[in-house]
Amino acid sequence: MNTKIKMIDETNLDEGIIEEAGKIIREGGLVAFPTETVYGLGANALDSRAVKKIFKAKGRPQDNPLIVHIWNIKQIETLTHDIPDIAYRFMKKFWPGPMTVILPKSSIIPDATSASLPSVGIRMPSNIIARKLIEKSGVPIAAPSANISGRPSPTDVERCIEDLNGKVDFILGGEMCQVGVESTVVDCTVTPSCVLRPGGITLEMLRKIDREVYIDPAVMKKPDKNIRPKAPGMKYRHYAPNAPVKIVNGDLKKTIAKINEMVQNYIDENKVVGVIATDETKDFYKKGLVVSLGSRSNMLSVSKNLFETLRSFDDKKVDIILSEAFEEKGIGVAVMNRLNKSAGFDIMKV
Ligand code: TXA
Ligand code: MG
Repeated sequence: MNTKIKMIDETNLDEGIIEEAGKIIREGGLVAFPTETVYGLGANALDSRAVKKIFKAKGRPQDNPLIVHIWNIKQIETLTHDIPDIAYRFMKKFWPGPMTVILPKSSIIPDATSASLPSVGIRMPSNIIARKLIEKSGVPIAAPSANISGRPSPTDVERCIEDLNGKVDFILGGEMCQVGVESTVVDCTVTPSCVLRPGGITLEMLRKIDREVYIDPAVMKKPDKNIRPKAPGMKYRHYAPNAPVKIVNGDLKKTIAKINEMVQNYIDENKVVGVIATDETKDFYKKGLVVSLGSRSNMLSVSKNLFETLRSFDDKKVDIILSEAFEEKGIGVAVMNRLNKSAGFDIMKV
């Protein structure tokens, strides 16, 4: 397939290009586009033939439902029913933005989109290109992250092209995604509401609206047959670069000492080692390919750079990636969730 790639300036939107991409969606094609979280791979959410193409392009398991993206709150009424008051309060506070709400789905949503579940995830992104694309397409857009299944999600257009060139009709390129991890998925079909995937909207933020909301405990643990995450997508090995990832967790001084020791051991075995560090610690590592995610006092920069850093280590063909851990607070919960999954929960306590 010949993929058309066009860059858009977010501060000076070329509406003609977005119109062209919207037409492709309306007519059953696939368009990758930026959002504030990660790049998405979109199709008409109401057209099961179009939606099936997403699964094929990504190599995505069929039992993993897609999130439906809207630009106008009114669309929610045709896509869902029995919306609880708490869902409206979340939407009012956090939309447009990095939050997905799970609600009972209406019959116009095909099984291909919801993976035959009785519910559907709805999200209103804040990225201007995403919003315009949904508006111009005239239909709600089903969009998972725009990566080949299992890989870290793309946070810039180059990564999107790397994974999807030749597999989709159109790639719309914007700026690097600001949040860098996917949206927070909140299940509003249960009481109290439950976070199925931590993301850009933190538990602390949600609790200001609903004191009872909690995170599905299975999400932060190594999956086993007794504790299964409620979001189908959270059970797969995910966000994984080619090289194995190991996390060292504990006091920062001890973490640095342990990572330095491990780096030396790997170098002695002739291995190329990547180290995921922070501005506060990077100068303490003398060997290995050291990349800082940003300052520990600015966790949004850490989340923004996480997936890109994992993927950049693939380019450098490292044999092993060692990472510091982060406090599970604010967006740090989402960062640790993605990091734990990319490491297959290979965590060393120091
Ligand atoms: O930030 C985001 O949410 C990005 C951008 C493109 O909007 N999209 C995204 O989609 O991350 P995806 O498909 O990669 O992840 C969707 C997650 C999966 O873990 C899926 O299992 C869960 O949401 N999910 C979707 N619908 C669900 C439902 N009805 N019930 C439970 N979990 C659901
Ligand atoms: Mg994904």
